[in-house]
Amino acid sequence: MDAIVIEGNGPLHGETYASGAKNAALPILASALLAPGEHTFRNVPDLADVRTMLKVLDTMGCESQRLKGKKQDTVLIKVPQRVHPEAPYELVKTMRASVLVLGPLTARYGRARVSMPGGCAIGARPIDQHLKGLEALGAEVDLQEGYVETRAKRLKGAPVTFDLITVTGTENLLMAAVLAKGRTLIENAAREPEVEELARVLNKMGARISGAGSDVITVDGVDELKPVDHAIIPDRIETGTLLVAAAITGGDVLVKRAAPEALEPVIQKLREAGCKVTVEGDGIRLVAGSRVHAVDVKTQEHPGFPTDMQAQLMALLATAHGTSVVAETIFENRFMHVAELRRMGADIAVDGHTAVVRGVARLSGAPVMATDLRASASLVLAGLHAAGKTKVARVYHLDRGYERLEKKLRALGAKIRRVKDR
Ligand code: EPU
Repeated sequence: MDAIVIEGNGPLHGETYASGAKNAALPILASALLAPGEHTFRNVPDLADVRTMLKVLDTMGCESQRLKGKKQDTVLIKVPQRVHPEAPYELVKTMRASVLVLGPLTARYGRARVSMPGGCAIGARPIDQHLKGLEALGAEVDLQEGYVETRAKRLKGAPVTFDLITVTGTENLLMAAVLAKGRTLIENAAREPEVEELARVLNKMGARISGAGSDVITVDGVDELKPVDHAIIPDRIETGTLLVAAAITGGDVLVKRAAPEALEPVIQKLREAGCKVTVEGDGIRLVAGSRVHAVDVKTQEHPGFPTDMQAQLMALLATAHGTSVVAETIFENRFMHVAELRRMGADIAVDGHTAVVRGVARLSGAPVMATDLRASASLVLAGLHAAGKTKVARVYHLDRGYERLEKKLRALGAKIRRVKDR
């Protein structure tokens, strides 16, 4: 198992870039199932989660291939006329987002058998809303031996109002509705940029979706879709993580090929904390002041502050001047980084969904480990700031969602390396 060793060595400087967005790539790769033929996806990050999704598709009979050399960000997927519509437990248990094949399989092949994802480190995470959406469109849904099984002749468009806002639930329903007969009206839809991006790709395939990016989405079903060639949007969470790396080290970093608009809520908070953040073309530059000051933050669905940046911002606030209050409203258990940050000298108290973070002038390096992706990123950031050596174990969590994070940080001057751990 790999670990990452960091020795805090002062400000990061220079230019880096954002890779393609993990949470846009996953539904988009699943959407290929809707259109037999050969798809070309560009700017696809080379991450463990993306490899898992490609494995899910290949298990069903698709043929995926990542190009080499300069075109290594390109993935080709050949989708046959008939697939074996099953996502097995062995794959779904490693990545919940495998459930994104449920919508397209039901819509295009009339049948799906997908292992039911269990809870995960950040919460129980049920999929009742995904199933509610499919049932509203006429699918029969059964739970058998830990698998969700769906059957449908042709789905029929219908109005669906989600009981709560769900990102992959909205994506699953969109992918089901595009081939349904008639109109589907999705209310209380997720507004995340990744949902908008999926709709863009589906429309390129020939779907008729309007309103994506707002909380009401209209889908007029079509009879068939065709394969696409599409470049995926930049990863706003990776961008935000790199900006916090600049902030926590008192540095000056330009993240190129970013999507500034999608990151507005994070940029606002970093500015409030005293950082100078400017948009330069498709890039975002952060110039840190001396020590950041405390800010309060509450995670919310887009366009609120993203839960996927909460742990990273908390690492920064742990070093701020003053006391910050961080409220997590999306997941019930997303404070696992707190205990590890405390091991590095952070002063953080948690009460339910709220963390009170009293900034300290300097964290100190320690061996730490994380139980999820963004918590790992937060510990790497804390390590960049800390005095002495930090060893972050269980790096496979980080590798699920960041492409070469340590290489990007090293190029900015960080003293960071990957080592083999026991
Ligand atoms: N929920 C339900 N029932 C459902 C669906 C969701 O109760 O049927 C609850 C969840 O348990 C959670 C809340 O609703 O408390 C929001 O969950 P959502 O469905 O929006 O999350 P998700 O679609 O499973 C995606 C991202 C997550 C990100 C969340 C929130 C992907 C592949 N994953 O998950 O990304 O945190 O939206 O923005 O898009 C990450 O990248 O680190 C990550 C966890």
